[in-house]
Amino acid sequence: MCGIVGYIGKQVAIPILVDGLKKLEYRGYDSAGVAVLDCEKIVVSKSVGKLVALEEELGQAYSQSCIGIGHTRWATHGRPSQVNAHPHCDCKQDFVVVHNGIIENYLELKDMLIEKGHKFASETDTEVLAHLLEDYYEGDFEGAVRKVLKTIRGSYAMVVLRRLDPNKLVAARKDSPMVVGLGDGEFFVASDITAILNYTRKVYILDDGEMVVITEDGVKVSDFEGNSRTKEVYDVKWDAVAAEKGGYEHFMLKEIHEQPKALKDTMLGRLEEDKVILQEVDLTLEELAQINKVYIVACGTAWHAGLVGKTLIERWAHLPVEVDIASEFRYRSPLVDKHTLVVVVSQSGETADTLAALREAKNRGARVVAVTNVVGSTVSREAHDVIFTWAGPEIAVASTKAYTTQLEGMVLLGLYLAQVKGTLPTEKIGEIITALKRIPAQVQELLDQAGLIEELAKSFAKVENTFFIGRSLDWAVAMEGSLKLKEISYIHAEAYAAGELKHGTLALITENTPVIALATQRDVYEKTISNVKEVKARDAKVIGLTYAGNTSMAKSVDHVIYIPETMDELSPILTVIPLQLLSYYVSVARGCDVDKPRNLAKSVTVE
Ligand code: G6P
Repeated sequence: MCGIVGYIGKQVAIPILVDGLKKLEYRGYDSAGVAVLDCEKIVVSKSVGKLVALEEELGQAYSQSCIGIGHTRWATHGRPSQVNAHPHCDCKQDFVVVHNGIIENYLELKDMLIEKGHKFASETDTEVLAHLLEDYYEGDFEGAVRKVLKTIRGSYAMVVLRRLDPNKLVAARKDSPMVVGLGDGEFFVASDITAILNYTRKVYILDDGEMVVITEDGVKVSDFEGNSRTKEVYDVKWDAVAAEKGGYEHFMLKEIHEQPKALKDTMLGRLEEDKVILQEVDLTLEELAQINKVYIVACGTAWHAGLVGKTLIERWAHLPVEVDIASEFRYRSPLVDKHTLVVVVSQSGETADTLAALREAKNRGARVVAVTNVVGSTVSREAHDVIFTWAGPEIAVASTKAYTTQLEGMVLLGLYLAQVKGTLPTEKIGEIITALKRIPAQVQELLDQAGLIEELAKSFAKVENTFFIGRSLDWAVAMEGSLKLKEISYIHAEAYAAGELKHGTLALITENTPVIALATQRDVYEKTISNVKEVKARDAKVIGLTYAGNTSMAKSVDHVIYIPETMDELSPILTVIPLQLLSYYVSVARGCDVDKPRNLAKSVTVE
């Protein structure tokens, strides 16, 4: 978690650092800070809260230094506070550090340093780095950083400045993302490309175990031992404005409305009339014949996409599928071996638990396919095969376009496996492809009804508890719908398998507990309606979602939202759209911070 940025060049550093941090706020935003070198002095400014607070703290009369580092924090070690905010210095204020990740052995290092007389100001693990540098420094800045890298354990991306080395930034990464931006006589370092896109499109994507020394003259990349590494320049094609709000009030609303395009882009070049082409996946029939089980592993919304993937792969490719939460997977000694296909799903491609699960699966000999939205992300580089979703940068913490494109990724993977294994007739694959191609326009149809959902949302403004119910694929979508509502409107929302309500949860249903009933799956429709009747009998107000043309649901519920006609298996991509809009408008009606809900962060790079 956390975002870091660094600058060295001819321009005044502080506005560039603050601008970069604004783009990184989605990585965490409980406090922020910058440090620059000014007349052989390290000048640090920090503040608690969002970046506006730091801007106020800096005022207009900030340092005109052309070298500096910045950080936006999401607390792990030590509560959010000014003193715990980065950057952190050593006792003599000779070194200043920003860091993303966790130093696992920081307590023993801290004890050792305190014994030697070092005075710590904060509760963070990061401060250990600055004091270690002070302790190890013997006239060689890079040498001291290397020694620190050998001493610490954990995950990190860090950038360091030294007071008496006014033309140098030193950075390193292990298990946390980091890029170096190559400008004209100026250089940038950041956790994410978005932070520096206003200044350059040429970047080096650092690998784990790489250290970089940046001066005004250039960038030297090496491993932690000091052996130099040659990097390829990655040319960023996407536009900086693509990451801005583009006229919408919130990133979330913009991203909801981007879904038709994201879905179209994700299928681009991958669909023939009755064949799926996944260039980045190279599983032969012989290899697939060896696979007897699939594991889908992910966190949060990506896990919900995996739940849909399970049904599709089992139905179409006749392979048994388990779906696991990444933070649970490793600790259960999963039965994974060379006969297992492990599918990791991750928007960012940097989620620590998902990455750890990927590595565990590889260690056990599994073939790993990643579904991810970020080219160059660690997940994409470490998996054997990758299906990229082409949703573009997703900034709002609540995931929307990443989810629907992940669902599409699941459809593509399910079809691909069925195609290679020959478990679906070609005509059936053709039918699914035809239906899939209609999905972006059908999403648009639903988006065009946003006004109706906005009206409906008003009745939720005072609600404190609600339930989402559904069976089969509707249950998986119910989970995503309830997560959306919880995370951005702070309404307690639970998703329940509709048939399970009567085993306890029904006791919670009252006239003040609205229920959102998903009934788009034709094979379980009648059964779901029986469950709707159970909650209606307890006076609940019910909003129903069902397929267009089904007139019967209106008789059983208070309000119906119709989902355009499609195959049951593709319906989740459509059904979730009104639920995303509902959460959005309820959040706005309740005056919540839609894009940056409390206590949450977009990219979770700690376990
Ligand atoms: C965070 C985000 C969620 C996301 C989850 C997994 O919790 O707030 O929206 O689903 O991480 O992220 P990933 O990048 O791995 O999909």
